[in-house]
Amino acid sequence: MCGIVGYVGHRPALGVVVEALRRMEYRGYDSAGVAVVGPRAAQTGVVTVEKRAGKLANLTGALQVDIAADPDRFAGTTGMGHTRWATHGRPTDRNAHPHVAGGFAVVHNGIIENYAALRAELEAYGVEFESDTDTEVAVQLVQHHYVAGSTAGDFEASAYAALRRLDGAFTLLFVHAAHPGTIVAARRSTPLVVGVGDGETFLGSDVAAFIEHTRDAVELGQDQVVIITAGGYLITDFAGEPQPGTPFRIDWDLEAAEKGGHDYFMLKEIEEQPAAVENTLLGHFEGGRIVLDEQRLSDQDLRDVDKVFIVACGSAYHSGLVAKYAIEHWTRLPCEVELASEFRYRDPVLGRSTLVVAISQSGETADTLEAVRHAREQKARVLAVCNTNGAQIPRESDAVLYTRAGPEIGVASTKAFLAQVTANYLVGLALAQARGTKYPDEVAREYRDLEAMPALVEKVLATGPAMRDLARELAGADTILFLGRHVGYPVALEGALKLKELAYMHAEGFAAGELKHGPIALIEDGLPVIVVMPSPRGRAVLHSKLVSNIREIQARGARTIVIAEEGDEAAATHADNLIQIPAAPTLFQPLLATVPLQIFAAEVAQARGYDVDKPRNLAKSVTVE
Ligand code: F6R
Repeated sequence: MCGIVGYVGHRPALGVVVEALRRMEYRGYDSAGVAVVGPRAAQTGVVTVEKRAGKLANLTGALQVDIAADPDRFAGTTGMGHTRWATHGRPTDRNAHPHVAGGFAVVHNGIIENYAALRAELEAYGVEFESDTDTEVAVQLVQHHYVAGSTAGDFEASAYAALRRLDGAFTLLFVHAAHPGTIVAARRSTPLVVGVGDGETFLGSDVAAFIEHTRDAVELGQDQVVIITAGGYLITDFAGEPQPGTPFRIDWDLEAAEKGGHDYFMLKEIEEQPAAVENTLLGHFEGGRIVLDEQRLSDQDLRDVDKVFIVACGSAYHSGLVAKYAIEHWTRLPCEVELASEFRYRDPVLGRSTLVVAISQSGETADTLEAVRHAREQKARVLAVCNTNGAQIPRESDAVLYTRAGPEIGVASTKAFLAQVTANYLVGLALAQARGTKYPDEVAREYRDLEAMPALVEKVLATGPAMRDLARELAGADTILFLGRHVGYPVALEGALKLKELAYMHAEGFAAGELKHGPIALIEDGLPVIVVMPSPRGRAVLHSKLVSNIREIQARGARTIVIAEEGDEAAATHADNLIQIPAAPTLFQPLLATVPLQIFAAEVAQARGYDVDKPRNLAKSVTVE
């Protein structure tokens, strides 16, 4: 949510910053802006800024015009940029970042919760505000400290003084026209990483911002300030006391953050799913045992668990719903799956023997992070399932299992979702193993079945052309319903979510058995209904119940699009359109059945002329509650 970049070095900053913004745009695309501190800023006393509402292309168009009129305007080797996902104030040019006051410019990700009080205080001093944003208080505050009081004329001291007044969640970058070569940045509960190059230093909301220049990065902790120059960085706390950073080496390359010949990242990421599942499994079965990554929980801790809560949002939540079936089946532990945004506000019953599994691709989602904090306050053990090394959620958890999907740039989750589902199975098997509810050979057999899944996911990708044809046919529909039972139910929810968020089409997922309790009233002639069939080789009763559900909706005129296992004769008989997927163990079927639905949503969105990677009103990681 909001992408932030910063650069101090020896190259022209504008090019570095704009290129970095391209890679950050998935985090927000309501507006974009840049600031450069160079000779022009020194002359005018004002940082050189350009910003525009809308996607990055609007900003780059404006920059071309600016540079054509005045080629030296953006000269300088210190710069920063921002892509916005609006929270306070409409996405207009005026509300776009950077925000400027006096010689300062600021970019911000997060929410400054006490902005109204600070604004009133500054207005009482005669400060005039120009925007409707919470961010502007940060720049007006730092300017206020720079012109008066004990910090007057001191860039860094003014920034510290301003930061100490702010409440909420924020990543902030400050530059000043009279202080080229330095950026002061801070983070509290939102992400910021430092990239360390040769004579140049970078800042980014994530490492994609600078991956083309350096693989050496430094992770910042909670409530830390970093001051960067071309020569390096200094990390402190908000009081200015030096703090250690956590250096790490980025283990994926530029190619992973590029489209690789696809029109959209999402299409590339759908194709990367076999590898995402395979890599997530890698190294987790050693010496005949399931092993997690950073298992700071002992086997005894796992044996003591008497209840599992899964907390997550959106697609990650759907992956948790799948996990519930596996965890309860394998471990006989009660498992509840909660939307993270609801969890902490309803006073859940937690204790030392509760295991909370927090699932998050980004590891930054504010709702999930707050759920983790709440769980830990209540002394529960927290295991994070996360796709981003060193992100806040794994940092604040007792144990971590990383999904190894690689960077996911498309806003709609695809490969990260499949990787989450896979990792959740590992969590279930680890619990079953520690608690002895499965014999070692049973755990090994489940794991071998899981290992066979990437090849089957690869096969499902072959449903692409059929899903594309269907998408073109149904692109004009007003509503599409999705039905499933058992693990097919979360798949139905996920299919509907994908369609809503990408194609802006009304879509609902239902547990097929619930249909007759209300939703069946929605069925009318020709209404497309996508049905996720359970395996006919699994529990026969499930399969036959769903066949009955298909008959019920067909009798009322629905057009049935059925996703069924190869050889499922009953499904074939009742399907207006049949999409076949390979046979797999029932619990693992979501890894297959979800894939055609992802392709379908992406294709409907394209047929309707929408940007698949950047659906309206959304951002990749949601760092505000
Ligand atoms: C939907 C989607 C979102 C995320 C949700 C949680 O396609 O991507 O619903 O799943 O915002 O994000 P993470 O996993 O980063 O916590």
